Amino acid sequence: MREVLDRIEKTGIVPVVVLEDAEKAVPVAKALQAGGIDCAEVTFRTAAAEESIGRIAKECPSILLGAGTVLSVEQVKKAVDAGAKFIVTPGFNPSVVSYCVEHQIPVVPGCMDTNAIEMALEMGLDTVKFFPAEAAGGLKMMKALAGPYVNLKFIPTGGVGKDNLCDYLSFRKVIACGGSWMVKGDLVRAERYDEIERLSREAVAAMLHLRIGRIQVGSMCENPAEHADLLHSVFLTAQTEEGAEAEGCIEILTDHLERALYHLEKQGIAFDMDTAVRDGKKMRSVDFKKKAGEFRIRLAEK
Ligand code: 3PG
Repeated sequence: MREVLDRIEKTGIVPVVVLEDAEKAVPVAKALQAGGIDCAEVTFRTAAAEESIGRIAKECPSILLGAGTVLSVEQVKKAVDAGAKFIVTPGFNPSVVSYCVEHQIPVVPGCMDTNAIEMALEMGLDTVKFFPAEAAGGLKMMKALAGPYVNLKFIPTGGVGKDNLCDYLSFRKVIACGGSWMVKGDLVRAERYDEIERLSREAVAAMLHLRIGRIQVGSMCENPAEHADLLHSVFLTAQTEEGAEAEGCIEILTDHLERALYHLEKQGIAFDMDTAVRDGKKMRSVDFKKKAGEFRIRLAEK
């Protein structure tokens, strides 16, 4: 359970996929992955769900694949047999949740009130899907619900899209957001895989929010002041200054450091973990393995 939830947290986004035709399952999964999202929840809202899960599990084994809208133990069995690694339900269904808990199948039940949350806690769960997030009161309602349950984490889903994704993710009890905005039914029907990929990439970029922070020009540079001025005029919003150290440093800021590390490593960027600066358990910054000329590149959370 922990491993699956940790990966969902690093990915940050759980696409909710409704497939009417299993032929489209693999191209959709590949488009999500190409856009940087290697997780999908295929919903049991259509007859094609089981076969779609089977095809994705076989053709795209690196994707973290779950089954959504699971309403019965029978569907749990079908989903798991087909290759689903986690189960999501719209409401708190005691039979489904206890079956999953007994069989150590990661399960995230939908909970929108204190009763459902307490049943989830009673079953030993620490993460629930807050559903339907926007209709149930949005971030304000979720924060109010989080108050008494100090260790509870949420995956808000329902009405989440590119415009409110970052608001939800900024609440530290949110491990990821679910939603269909990058994989809407009309895009799937029209086989607009390019658009699914683009919307996925856009969602990941909005979530990570990578931008230039401070730039320090190293003292071994021939004319540090001149270089600092030049860089300042290029990166208008970045703070550029002469640093005390020999090497310069370009700082790249992100809203979510651990998540950014996960996504950038998938793109082949290596980090020098010996340079990681931590505040307790939380990592605050880490340097890229590669340098840009005389500059170290540092990824830091703001
Ligand atoms: C779900 O099943 O979780 C929701 O239908 C997804 O909601 P959305 O379509 O509003 O993103």
